[in-house]
Amino acid sequence: MIIVLLASACKPKHTESCTLEPALYQVADFPIGCAVDLNQLEFNPNYAQLLGQQFNQLSPENLMKAEHIHPQVNTYNWSEADRLVNYCQQESKSLHGHTLIWHQQLPTWMEHFSGTKSEWEAMFKDHIQSMCRHFKGKVRAWDVVNEAFNEDGTLRNSIWKQHLGAGYIEKAFRYAHEADPDALLFYNDFNLVLSPKKREAVLGLLKSLKQRGVPVNGIGLQMHISIAFPENRAMESAFQDFSEAGFLVHISELDISVNPYGGALNNDSNLWERQAQKLAVVLSLYKQIDHSRQYGITFWGLSDADSWIPSAFNREDYPLLFDVNYQAKAAYCKMKESL
Ligand code: XIL
Repeated sequence: MIIVLLASACKPKHTESCTLEPALYQVADFPIGCAVDLNQLEFNPNYAQLLGQQFNQLSPENLMKAEHIHPQVNTYNWSEADRLVNYCQQESKSLHGHTLIWHQQLPTWMEHFSGTKSEWEAMFKDHIQSMCRHFKGKVRAWDVVNEAFNEDGTLRNSIWKQHLGAGYIEKAFRYAHEADPDALLFYNDFNLVLSPKKREAVLGLLKSLKQRGVPVNGIGLQMHISIAFPENRAMESAFQDFSEAGFLVHISELDISVNPYGGALNNDSNLWERQAQKLAVVLSLYKQIDHSRQYGITFWGLSDADSWIPSAFNREDYPLLFDVNYQAKAAYCKMKESL
């Protein structure tokens, strides 16, 4: 008995209650998105119910990444992504394509591709255009290039930069647009609020692409943030800078860590309130940008049980709107109030 009591005393508690209806997307005047795990959607009724009820835009968390969808040089595995497309069409949700060109989650054949510069270029173009053609008319937008910059503002030395040179980013946008002229095209990255040099470099590149007529429509600010950072002023200027430069702003992978430095969770009773408060600030600053630039806000997972953070960073954390039992947390209720 004592053990049971102690164990439950250590678990984070969410006493918050507010109604689940109207849903988040019904209250918002921009799309409210969630990263989706197809396996959960198909086999977990609680997950499917809540996801379907609350969100009107979905980003596939993993299944459109090259290692999943393009496992062999001449093989595309469309079936899972097509099931997600069907779900979105049946349920009237928009689909945000994630991601065409990245340095992670690559299939082995692609990572170790050997060929001349023009063979690399053909492989790169084939990947982008096969994806864009297959999903033409079915995705609202693509994250065309993901995480191309280092924190100091230099270009990451990815396989794409090594084999195609720094111009690969421009080429990726041009190829994507050629294959699906109606899709909105985004550059997506993390720490664009926290690292001023990275932000300057990305904004500089995007402005120069736009000036030269390269089809780039928006910026994805991933926003894997925490209750402790970034500062509100830095968020405000990042949102404003990209919006004023004429780009759609997608908060593309939002989660708010309550344990950013790891170690034992500081389980004080304010944790959930502080998380809710940080979210309220994100929303109020996002709502200050011009409405025509508000592409949407996407959470990187549905419940704390689905978050990538604990396993990726090896720490206890609860960064999302719903707890591990799919119950609304304070952040969810605060979001309703702030939308
Ligand atoms: C993460 C997924 O959430 C994990 O399931 C996977 O193991 C690794 O990738 N930036 C991105 C996302 O653009 O694609 C990443 O997603 C998180 C960081």
